[in-house]
Amino acid sequence: MEVVVLDSADAVAEYGAQRIIGLVKQNSAAVLGLATGRTPVALYKCLIRAYQQGDISFQDVITFNLDEYVGIGDDEPLSFSAFMRRELFNAIDINVENTHIPKCPEGENPFQVGEEYERSIELAGGIDLQLLGIGTNGHIGFNEPTSSLASRTRVKTLAGSTIHDNSLNTNKAGVSAELAVTMGIGTILDTRRVLLLATGDGKARAISAAVEGPVSSMCPASALQLHPKVTVVVDQAAASQLQ
Ligand code: F6R
Repeated sequence: MEVVVLDSADAVAEYGAQRIIGLVKQNSAAVLGLATGRTPVALYKCLIRAYQQGDISFQDVITFNLDEYVGIGDDEPLSFSAFMRRELFNAIDINVENTHIPKCPEGENPFQVGEEYERSIELAGGIDLQLLGIGTNGHIGFNEPTSSLASRTRVKTLAGSTIHDNSLNTNKAGVSAELAVTMGIGTILDTRRVLLLATGDGKARAISAAVEGPVSSMCPASALQLHPKVTVVVDQAAASQLQ
């Protein structure tokens, strides 16, 4: 596991963006795994800037997002579909048909969506680079503590701490977001390269457990120690509890 410690959250975003830009320049049809949440927003801004400057094109890029709330419509502002359009897709030349989010809208069979999502990742040839954030409890995607390290895309109940961490947004939207479809830890471990970003001292404990703790389902991100190509990019605050 490669750990890169940088001075600021901006530097983390820029570093992460350069990794993605480098990959897309090498392979214009790269398959990217994307994340939502606060952490990747600054990185997405860097990607938009690179596109606007004519540095890269996303025309042939394929994307698979990690997760989505169950029972939420695409157009609801809290949905990760809306987030991705707002923070990235609307501002770049990506083909919407090449973007995937593991949706489970009202009425859909939650047991089917996981398998279908796994199949579409496989059909695309697998994920070249998976971007990740990390929860304060060590979750990746919405694989909460105790998730099986071999898990595949499925519906998960969110942990109380995650519901609390997300409540600023969910309360505003009047939504009770307690269930999500998420890629599994096994799905993430199958990707060819992982880029995990974390900023701020709220993430310091989770980063220490993920990077230096035992591999344990109690800290899902620690499973990344089993992946041969992981880069963890953190600012000084998120690195503050590393040995
Ligand atoms: C988002 C996701 C989550 C977040 C994590 C950190 O798609 O899968 O695991 O990456 O909850 O969220 P932020 O970045 O908001 O601290």
